[in-house]
Amino acid sequence: MEFRIKTGEIAQLKTPCILIGIFEGRKLAGPSATLDLATGGRLSELLKKGDMDGRVGGTLMLYDLPGLASERVLVVGCGKHKDFGRDNYRKALVGAVAALQQTHAGAALCTLHALGPDGLDLYAAVRDLVTTAEDKTYRYTLTKKDDKQAPRTPLKRLDVWLSETADAQSAEQAIRHGSAIAAGMALSKELGNLPGNICTPTYLAEKAVELGERYEHLETEILEEADMEELKMGALLSVSRGSRQPAKLIVMHYRGGEPDAKPVVLVGKGLTFDTGGISIKPAADMDEMKYDMCGGAGVFGTVLAACELGLPINLVGVVPSSENMPDGDANKPGDIVTSMSGQTIEVLNTDAEGRLILCDALTYSERFDPELVIDLATLTGACVIALGKHASGLFTTDDHLAEEIVAAGQAAADRAWRMPLWDDYQQQLDTNFADMANVGGREAGAVTAACFLARYTKAYRWAHLDIAGTAWLSGKEKGATGRPVALLTQLLLKRS
Ligand code: BES
Ligand code: MN
Ligand code: ZN
Repeated sequence: MEFRIKTGEIAQLKTPCILIGIFEGRKLAGPSATLDLATGGRLSELLKKGDMDGRVGGTLMLYDLPGLASERVLVVGCGKHKDFGRDNYRKALVGAVAALQQTHAGAALCTLHALGPDGLDLYAAVRDLVTTAEDKTYRYTLTKKDDKQAPRTPLKRLDVWLSETADAQSAEQAIRHGSAIAAGMALSKELGNLPGNICTPTYLAEKAVELGERYEHLETEILEEADMEELKMGALLSVSRGSRQPAKLIVMHYRGGEPDAKPVVLVGKGLTFDTGGISIKPAADMDEMKYDMCGGAGVFGTVLAACELGLPINLVGVVPSSENMPDGDANKPGDIVTSMSGQTIEVLNTDAEGRLILCDALTYSERFDPELVIDLATLTGACVIALGKHASGLFTTDDHLAEEIVAAGQAAADRAWRMPLWDDYQQQLDTNFADMANVGGREAGAVTAACFLARYTKAYRWAHLDIAGTAWLSGKEKGATGRPVALLTQLLLKRS
């Protein structure tokens, strides 16, 4: 979608549609009041008929209002004036975009941000506008011949109205940042939504190579199973041994910073389908395990956003990618494997495979002498039980890093919530037969998974994001969310 800044008298701006906000009680404020004056009070007169009361997200389309150059006016409910913060602002935008998609307008001029949502400056309000509009107009179509719900006239352009040209710079920056984040999220969603028979480790590796060819500062390197053998990645390889699809270790180097600047390393779980292996999962909803590569997809999306923004930093994206299948050669409960770090692991449950592929990727990441490593993974059902779909689970022993990540999630409307990573939980991984077990029992499953990873990340500053609850939605709205690309890109923006 295209976003342009428009300044000047709103009433005189030619556009297929103007979006104006009203509050409950049909209160017209800011630009909405100005427009009402231009129509000689016709707007407030029409609203008095009562078809629209300002409830948040509700809309009413009006045509041919006198005194306006715009063909249409979409009145958008913004809720109670006193409650107009970020949540209601975003809900209003969602309602507006949905309504626009039902019309033939194709383009519109937005004034909702000018109502001053509480707690958002102009930059943040415009960035939210861009990311929300892009998020709500994304459609998965790749394997669908006939999309019956597709809008006849898709929304192609949203103009951002500013009362003052002086504000143009921060709005321009918001559009640039928002568009890059949205592009990253779209890539992440697309990869996530692809089925397991298309989106294999080999497919992901090809996509990474394509990205490397598209961007000057990006170089992609693919490690094959033979390379992993040589590196002694016994944990990762034990998972892919049960699959006909060869594993790939995808490494993307983005070099936007000084050659000697230490990189931020993002490690994403790229499990393209998780059946559970021999500890097989129940049939219900198993299709959703195509989303088990969403950590990897989040790395792709964040790397893309960094490339689009030309961030002056160095960034390495590492995506260990494999399937987890039951097979004559698959891991069996009780099997013991040796990780690249030399630590041995008793595979008590073959469905706890994410940590097996991640631990070798995390050890591998030591070679980049990282400033910081963040891994993202759809790691545990337990995290979904703990936090639901609203927040990603954040695990780190580094308080400063935790604050930084929580703040980035807050700023990007892509929240994370810190969970404990105390040593008290470590003993749950004890076993008589190896250095650790790959599962820690029923209690605190998201924490013991993080404890497992902590044993492989002692050489650098590290945080883990469990995105099992946030990376995709189930039910009628089933689909990938593109999270946590916004959080991570915000973190990188803030650091550069
Ligand atoms: N990919 C799953 C985690 C998952 C499950 C994410 C359901 C979202 C929804 C992971 O590989 C897994 O199976 N984890 C097990 C760990 C258990 C065996 C300790 C789980 O959460 O059940
Ligand atoms: Mn699993
Ligand atoms: Zn998994």
